[in-house]
Amino acid sequence: MKEPGEFDGGEDLEKTVAWYRRFAEHEASGRSALFEGWAYGVADDGEVLALLGELPRPKRQPNLLFACSRLVGCPLVPYAEWREWLIANWSAVSAQMAVRGTQTNEPRRCAVLLPVLAKVAGPIALLEVGASAGLCLYPDRYSYSYDGRRIDPVDGPSTVLLECSTTGDPPIPVALPEIVWRAGIDLNPLDVSDEEDTTWLETLIWPEQHERRQRIRAAMDIVRSDPPRIVRGDAIDDLPALVADVPAGIPLVIVSSAAIVYLMPEPRARFIDYVRALDATWISNEGAGIVPVAAGKLNGRVSPVTGQMLLSVNEEPMAFTGPHGDRLDWL
Ligand SMILES: C[S@@+](CC[C@H](N)C(=O)[O-])C[C@H]1O[C@@H](n2cnc3c(N)ncnc32)[C@H](O)[C@@H]1O
Repeated sequence: MKEPGEFDGGEDLEKTVAWYRRFAEHEASGRSALFEGWAYGVADDGEVLALLGELPRPKRQPNLLFACSRLVGCPLVPYAEWREWLIANWSAVSAQMAVRGTQTNEPRRCAVLLPVLAKVAGPIALLEVGASAGLCLYPDRYSYSYDGRRIDPVDGPSTVLLECSTTGDPPIPVALPEIVWRAGIDLNPLDVSDEEDTTWLETLIWPEQHERRQRIRAAMDIVRSDPPRIVRGDAIDDLPALVADVPAGIPLVIVSSAAIVYLMPEPRARFIDYVRALDATWISNEGAGIVPVAAGKLNGRVSPVTGQMLLSVNEEPMAFTGPHGDRLDWL
């Protein structure tokens, strides 16, 4: 029987080590030197790896460890010093890791969704699965700049400008979509009017990402002025009830962005079967292998930059995208 602190075996340990190395190399590199150092440090640190082994495997996620340690109040210092703090504060950090999941909400992902969203003849109903705080439910309230080509909401420039660089000539719309109904569903909706929730959202932004912090704060102001409906529920069990609320005759667009990756393969397949059978457009912006049919249609095309996501519409691959909506590489 496995004792706390012990791994199930060599393979279990190797998977965690590989996860931290991958995170350092493909996610933190170039974005957060601090997290890159922490992730490489954890991958080589038997004592910290043993602590992580006390947690169920999905909870050993690098981003979750780093965010929860910051939430508990760790100093932003190089690895050797941070790991001393972590070991001393492990019970508080692991308690947070046990009850939280990463809920990074990045409004700039609207910049990669917009070209495909605008192709649906509107006005539309927008339903986001895994909406977090709902910052991606307002693509019509932000301004955009694609390689300097600008689009503003009908009532003028937004306080939030989403800049996105492109390759492959994506169909940049001239106007923003008209959204007449919007709602989200999330296992744990975050409320931008609640201090604890906004603290968690901001803690999920990496330390060096000051520009992102400003953008997300400005997006939270927009959302706060017109709070969305976000139902607390599961993407599979509770989605049909929300779909049933969509007004008749309005084209429904379902968006999943960095969300169904959190479902295990079997429930994810059930989710895909369900949305496939709906009279709706499904826009997915997820890790490249998460929507198997879309991935299968890539026919060997690979993303120009590692760590990109795949944008697909009804399982047709459309583009590789930057994980935070910073680039759109149209196929
Ligand atoms: C990384 S966030 C992405 C938020 C937003 N879609 C975006 O792109 O900025 C993933 C969200 O999915 C939610 N989530 C994870 N599993 C879920 C499930 N089974 N049902 C509903 N929401 C889920 C999480 O609570 C979290 O808020």
